[in-house]
Amino acid sequence: MTGSIILIGPMGSGKSTIGRLLATRLHLPYVDSDALIVSHTGVDIPTIFEIEGESGFRERERKVIADLATQSEAIVLATGGGAILDPANRRHLRRMGKVIYLDVSVDEQLKRIRHDRNRPLLQNTDLDSRLQTLAEQRHTLYQETAHWRVLGDGLRSDQVLRRILRHL
Ligand code: S3P
Repeated sequence: MTGSIILIGPMGSGKSTIGRLLATRLHLPYVDSDALIVSHTGVDIPTIFEIEGESGFRERERKVIADLATQSEAIVLATGGGAILDPANRRHLRRMGKVIYLDVSVDEQLKRIRHDRNRPLLQNTDLDSRLQTLAEQRHTLYQETAHWRVLGDGLRSDQVLRRILRHL
């Protein structure tokens, strides 16, 4: 399948919000890989991390993405921020269609997710330096996986949406 649109990028970059808007505009089904994992397991993401650790979560994420890659229907897919860590995921996502990197600065992320309780990687830690570290570890992987990057700092979701639609 090659006609999908896949959103990658860090936590708080707007993948789910933009993904939903894009799907509506393009009349495509919206799929969120985290939401699929939650619906398969019946528990939320913090609980999966608590019981199975990050590696258990990554294994589930890998299976969900491998499964989506076998399906023929075009979709808009919002991925979790760490989906690009796995080389097989990166290959699958690129083959599925157009991969867009929603890039936002750590400052912008901080504004959006300061009080988040649903992201285990951000609990009990200095949020600023945690996000910096993740950005340093992942920025190149996002760049290498994406066909195109959009900068989201200071933009409302409808503005990001317009940029993406112009480029498609
Ligand atoms: C993660 C991002 C989360 C979720 C999990 C791990 C990450 O998704 O998959 O908490 O490693 O960056 P969002 O990017 O939608 O917050």
